[in-house]
Amino acid sequence: MSRQYLVAGNWKMFGNMASNQVLVEGMCAGLDAVPKVQVLVCPPATYLTAIQQAARGSGLLLGAQNLAAQEKEGAFTGEILGSMLKDVGCSHVIVGHSERRALFGDTDAVVAQKVHAALAAGLVPILCVGETLAEREADATEAVIARQIDAVLAVNPVASLAALVIAYEPVWAIGTGKTASPEQAQNVHAFIRARIAAVDAKLGDSLRILYGGSVKPDNAASIFAQTDVDGGLIGGASLKAADFLAICAAAQSQG
Ligand code: 13P
Repeated sequence: MSRQYLVAGNWKMFGNMASNQVLVEGMCAGLDAVPKVQVLVCPPATYLTAIQQAARGSGLLLGAQNLAAQEKEGAFTGEILGSMLKDVGCSHVIVGHSERRALFGDTDAVVAQKVHAALAAGLVPILCVGETLAEREADATEAVIARQIDAVLAVNPVASLAALVIAYEPVWAIGTGKTASPEQAQNVHAFIRARIAAVDAKLGDSLRILYGGSVKPDNAASIFAQTDVDGGLIGGASLKAADFLAICAAAQSQG
């Protein structure tokens, strides 16, 4: 099946009101050139409303970088409920990014609960999976990814996952300038698709799997050309409109 490419920018904890305005205007000015591609930005939560307004009518999609595991309002200081993200215009939310897993206690079980919370709020979860360098060197890549995916499947009935997006982000490639080779990416993406197809063949076929980890304008096309790569989750290069649009153009130019 042909799957629409999705290019998502994860801005992480960078930027301010003034720089975001310039960035969003620059991105919106280039969207007409990439009509086949879904383009999404995930800024820090404090800027969601301002960016929603700046991007109004442009087709630029808005997402968050994280959400609470809870599904109802309550006394959870500092947390943000999925429905609140939806309320300010988010369609997507990143769940289980490796920085959250490594630094903020997002275990497999928490990540699975957050996927559930995202779906309950009507958000598309972008579930991040990926191995560390030590795990790759120990030949544990597939075991790690299987564990991360199976934890989500254990909590979320497969029938609820039609909207799910998975992002393969090898931890050793994030912010390091080291990209997985197109073949390494394809191998893991094919493994992810097969793992999902084993529980639901149709979902396996329609599932969009993004690659993330040092995607830049000069390597995006060769990664996006792989059969099981359906777009990218872009960190550093999503902070420059020209670079981000060049990556979107690499998706636009695929078959
Ligand atoms: P970089 O593109 O900066 O390597 O970041 C990737 C990432 O973590 C996106 O979520």
